[in-house]
Amino acid sequence: MPTDHGPKPLRATRSGPLKGSLRPPGDKSISHRSLMLGALAVGETVVEGLLEGEDVISTAAAMRAFGATVTRGEDAVWRVAGPGVGGLLEPEGVIDYGNAGTGVRLALGIAGSHAFATTFTGDGSLIKRPMGRVLDPLRRMGVQVIARSGDRLPATVRGPDVPVPVEYRLPVASAQVKSSILLAGLNVPGTTTVIEPVPTRDHTERMLQAFGAAIDIETGEDGSRIIRVDGRHDLKPQHIVVPGDPSSAAFPIVAALIVEGSDVTVENVLLNPTRTGLLETLIEMGADIVIENRRAVGGEEVGDIRVRHKRLKGVRVPASRAPSMIDEYPILAIAAAFAEGDTLMEGIGEMRVKESDRIAAIAAGLVANGVTVEEGPESLLVHGGAEVPGGGLVATRLDHRIAMSFLILGLAAEKPVTVDDAATIATSFPAFQGLMTGLGARFEEATDG
Ligand code: S3P
Repeated sequence: MPTDHGPKPLRATRSGPLKGSLRPPGDKSISHRSLMLGALAVGETVVEGLLEGEDVISTAAAMRAFGATVTRGEDAVWRVAGPGVGGLLEPEGVIDYGNAGTGVRLALGIAGSHAFATTFTGDGSLIKRPMGRVLDPLRRMGVQVIARSGDRLPATVRGPDVPVPVEYRLPVASAQVKSSILLAGLNVPGTTTVIEPVPTRDHTERMLQAFGAAIDIETGEDGSRIIRVDGRHDLKPQHIVVPGDPSSAAFPIVAALIVEGSDVTVENVLLNPTRTGLLETLIEMGADIVIENRRAVGGEEVGDIRVRHKRLKGVRVPASRAPSMIDEYPILAIAAAFAEGDTLMEGIGEMRVKESDRIAAIAAGLVANGVTVEEGPESLLVHGGAEVPGGGLVATRLDHRIAMSFLILGLAAEKPVTVDDAATIATSFPAFQGLMTGLGARFEEATDG
């Protein structure tokens, strides 16, 4: 779904202690997959706690275009009645996925193994992002592809009558690529195999198991994960409770660490070990973080995270941690700016192909606010200090996480920090401003940009 808002500049000002508790929105990865697997099951899937952000609403619209019935009750419970694997209909129009990289890459897999044509496009950020990483394995399955140069959107995929199962070793550590192939494999006769040398978030595998797919996971001799799915079996509809998104929880967590005197509890946060790299890193930096009330929700571990202000120290974040905190480097860089000493983030080349080139966007934003950084092709070094001057105007480049990260910086910097567009935050965390304000954060509209 395209976003029709104009830019909304917003300014954050040094705030008093942040106090209280909040619940982050539902996890974005699980929300996309809930609607997709609901459409691929026959019968009614019920989803509680869905993230109602623009990215996920785009997936709801896409699933409707494929013939699923997707409705929201007044109680915010969503229901998906799926036509089921192999039963999807050819969409009548172009599917505009807005800003949602995960949504479009997973939907390309779903569409690609169906014998009809689907055309996808997106916003000014999404049409710049590489789609070859999912289109290449789809081509090997026999899918016809017409895409803009460099395998960019807009792109059309047309599945063959009988797609061919593949065995595909992931050339990049990407849960999106893994998931796209596995979702395509659901409508491929025979066994589709994905080999994952480096583990990435495993929500697709867990949810496929819950939906009754014929899926099998094994560890190879070299330690890689081998995931096999047998296609053309029916999926059983599920009742899903979506846990809170750790990638959204990251913003109030870091805010509480850097704003003096803060004491904040972020409730109901997903603690799946493929998503907890930021918590591990912040604890290494000396953060005062306590996880309370650990419990199971919908087959996942969740907990309440209590964070108190603490002066952090710089650390080296190893490349091996990147998959478990890939979306959290922007906000880690903000924590690093206030830490004592240097923080080096290595092996983060994937950051260059997110909603924006995040290494460049973070570096430019920090420099604009008086922080010294060293940018490498696949790394970022932040020189921390007790005080961050602030006072900068940050270009958010259609990237929600860049917008939220620099607003958090402004809550603790000496001078206010302005982001040129906070409207993009609605893609993943529509209640960000209200929830943060409830803790004591100070924001104001910035008409002068
Ligand atoms: C996601 C996977 C990650 C992440 C994205 C969500 C997912 O992308 O950055 O926000 O839901 O599978 P990659 O797997 O491409 O790194």
